[in-house]
Amino acid sequence: MDLSLEGQRALVTGANSGIGEGVAKALAAAGAKVVVNWVSGEERAEAVVAEIAAAGGTAMAIRADVSKEDQVQAMFRRMIEAWGSIDILVNNAGLQRDFAFHEMPLADWRLVLDVNLTGQFLCSREAIREFLRRGPAPELSAALGKIVCMSSVHDLIPWAGHVNYAASKGGVMLMMKSLAQEYASRRIRVNSVCPGAIKTPINHEAWATPEAETSLLRLIPYKRVGVVEDIGKATVFLASDASDYMTGVNLYVDGGMTLYPGFDMGG
Ligand code: BGC
Repeated sequence: MDLSLEGQRALVTGANSGIGEGVAKALAAAGAKVVVNWVSGEERAEAVVAEIAAAGGTAMAIRADVSKEDQVQAMFRRMIEAWGSIDILVNNAGLQRDFAFHEMPLADWRLVLDVNLTGQFLCSREAIREFLRRGPAPELSAALGKIVCMSSVHDLIPWAGHVNYAASKGGVMLMMKSLAQEYASRRIRVNSVCPGAIKTPINHEAWATPEAETSLLRLIPYKRVGVVEDIGKATVFLASDASDYMTGVNLYVDGGMTLYPGFDMGG
């Protein structure tokens, strides 16, 4: 199975923490050069770059707010100047701003949609423009380019108290599938990884104490909270030629969270 990303150039948004950091390291371990995008937390971004280099890989940090068109375009220009092109985009940057719906400020609705959905639009558009400009590179990959969108089980599972977040991920699903349909004939593959509960800072409260973790495990048939390496492996697969015949797919990596766990006892 061809999981090698040797010689390919990847950009991972929000790569200085959590799932993004894990994905950046997994892509680098598979042979890709990786742009570690960040918006706040420069030290951590530089630490991820240094850790990738110490493991024998190549990475560089670029600051950009993915919800700002000029910053996204400047980031792509820098990457392409430095490394010639891009082969893999991982749209990972995302955040939560949780409120009861009737108390949700418009600003927090907008922030979540701007980063989680518009950010994926802006980065995907730049990546696709560059894939089309560059043309095929069969010595690197069978596809013209690959986009992996970081979605969530909450593109499917409704989530009370997190309506902005669930709406953004539902949007990612049909953005991803429509893009996949639009560009399949140009050999650009677009897929999503949909993580369940993965131990990262975004959901720290949900697993930080033994009581919280026990309660979280009720939602996970596989009875283990995920780790970023679970998502890194799935992302390498979707970015590699091992998945060359896959496009427009939502790959749930969730220990069974989307299997309606309450129904194992009846219904
Ligand atoms: C959210 C996490 C949550 C997980 C499962 C993710 O998309 O960001 O906070 O733990 O879904 O509910």
